[in-house]
Amino acid sequence: MAIRQYRRIHLLFRLALVSVMALGASRVILDNLRNNLLWPGSVEISTRHRYTVKMPIGVSEEETIEDGCNVFEGKWVWDNASRPLYREESCPFLVKQTTCLRNGRPDSFYQNWRWQPNTCNLPRFDGLKLMEILRDKRLMFVGDSVQRSMFESMVCLVQSAIPSDVRRSLQRIPPRKVFKVEEFNATIEYYWAPFIVESISDHATNHTVLKRLVRLDSVAKHSKEWQAANVLIFESYVWWMYKPMINATYGSLDNIQEYNVTTAYRLALETWANWIESSINPQTQKIFFTTMSPTHLWSWEWKPGADGNCFNETHPIEGSYWGTGSNLDIMGIVEDVLGELKVKVTLLNITQLSEFRKDGHTSVFGERKGKLLTKEQRNDPKNYADCIHWCLPGVPDTWNEILYALLLQDYRVQ
Ligand SMILES: *[C@@H]1O[C@H](CO)[C@@H](O)[C@H](O)[C@H]1NC(C)=O
Ligand SMILES: *[C@@H]1O[C@H](CO)[C@@H](O)[C@H](O)[C@H]1NC(C)=O
Ligand SMILES: *[C@@H]1O[C@H](CO)[C@@H](O)[C@H](O)[C@H]1NC(C)=O
Ligand SMILES: *[C@@H]1O[C@H](CO)[C@@H](O)[C@H](O)[C@H]1NC(C)=O
Ligand SMILES: *[C@@H]1O[C@H](CO)[C@@H](O)[C@H](O)[C@H]1NC(C)=O
Ligand SMILES: *[C@@H]1O[C@H](CO)[C@@H](O)[C@H](O)[C@H]1NC(C)=O
Ligand SMILES: *[C@@H]1O[C@H](CO)[C@@H](O)[C@H](O)[C@H]1NC(C)=O
Repeated sequence: MAIRQYRRIHLLFRLALVSVMALGASRVILDNLRNNLLWPGSVEISTRHRYTVKMPIGVSEEETIEDGCNVFEGKWVWDNASRPLYREESCPFLVKQTTCLRNGRPDSFYQNWRWQPNTCNLPRFDGLKLMEILRDKRLMFVGDSVQRSMFESMVCLVQSAIPSDVRRSLQRIPPRKVFKVEEFNATIEYYWAPFIVESISDHATNHTVLKRLVRLDSVAKHSKEWQAANVLIFESYVWWMYKPMINATYGSLDNIQEYNVTTAYRLALETWANWIESSINPQTQKIFFTTMSPTHLWSWEWKPGADGNCFNETHPIEGSYWGTGSNLDIMGIVEDVLGELKVKVTLLNITQLSEFRKDGHTSVFGERKGKLLTKEQRNDPKNYADCIHWCLPGVPDTWNEILYALLLQDYRVQ
């Protein structure tokens, strides 16, 4: 039984991955349209704008997270007064894959939940304050398409918070995307690296989904692009979980071997950790690592006897829950590798809080191969629902609220 279930899970994971990751070339076109997109309301302004002057950053008592509060432990509370933090239609930088309402999702409840830690409160997200923190700096998200939604969420959070005469732009410089806010000389960036280390899937749009080959010992091609960032947020999980084994090299490129995924993940993370240790300056750079984003591919896990997926789910799971899609071996490896680092890497342990959100995925209100689902496909959620990616506004906003809260703590008066 256990083995059968294990195999079934892997097989389904595989189907789900193929269906949502074969995004293909049409994304290029979409993204190109957004190239150099200036905020429609932007106007020519003099060089001395009110935000070009550096301002002190204050942290009030309400914004202070008490030492000892684990912000990742808590519950989702209904709060349709303060959530969502921005509107789908007010953020021109969202890609079609995440705009679930526009794509026909009938309910918007998923936008109205606020994460409430058990023993403290999260500060209210203040986009201008974040810009002040990032003045003359670069913040960069590195990872796969789940991490890209965290980037997009952050762009929308900032975008909705800054006045319309502040110039902003989104540029696509594959494999990077760069959102820049001129008056602050601040950038929020995304860098596509689904395995963190090098692989044959590193092209921003033309990447293989079925064939994978990872260079477990090599990160240099990417890391030279990360080196100058001031805040780096890494993530990598779902691309590893396609099969129990993965083709990879370590050393000679001619020596391709099948590795157990957990072994391969550990080796890759150690390669990354070596780079962190040798190249990061903790005085000027801050590093975060986002834990795995959960999937909701099998509804029997939260509704015994059911045979569906995240489709039709409109409310978070109540009570304790951890899905089998979130691999505990991988979690343990992250814990080990980060624990051994001498440079501090702050964990964004968003897995548990996101586990509850079976209602937050794009389901059939997203894309397949870069195109919105057709009516026929929507009527076939068993085969077409995407229970990996998240709607925006939605769950990734909370990840960013936490990231913001942690960044802000550095400015506390000691
Ligand atoms: C907010 O939620 C409450 C409780 O479900 C509901 O009665 C109210 O109509 C909602 N308000 C809005 C603006 O949606
Ligand atoms: C703008 O920010 C970049 C880092 O992103 C920095 O290298 C540069 O010096 C800044 N420019 C000014 C005028 O401060
Ligand atoms: C995509 O990559 C493959 C393999 O590297 C290459 O043969 C193909 O021409 C590329 N397609 C496009 C549209 O760039
Ligand atoms: C590894 O590559 C070989 C040759 O392309 C292929 O036959 C095999 O299925 C691959 N293994 C995995 C786990 O993908
Ligand atoms: C992979 O390694 C893990 C941990 O060592 C082990 O539990 C698992 O059974 C291995 N899987 C395969 C397919 O060999
Ligand atoms: C989805 O929800 C609607 C309304 O509650 C219901 O009529 C429909 O049968 C559900 N579909 C599935 C596949 O669960
Ligand atoms: C993340 O949190 C979960 C519980 O929510 C815990 O089991 C896990 O060990 C944590 N991960 C790390 C790397 O500390």
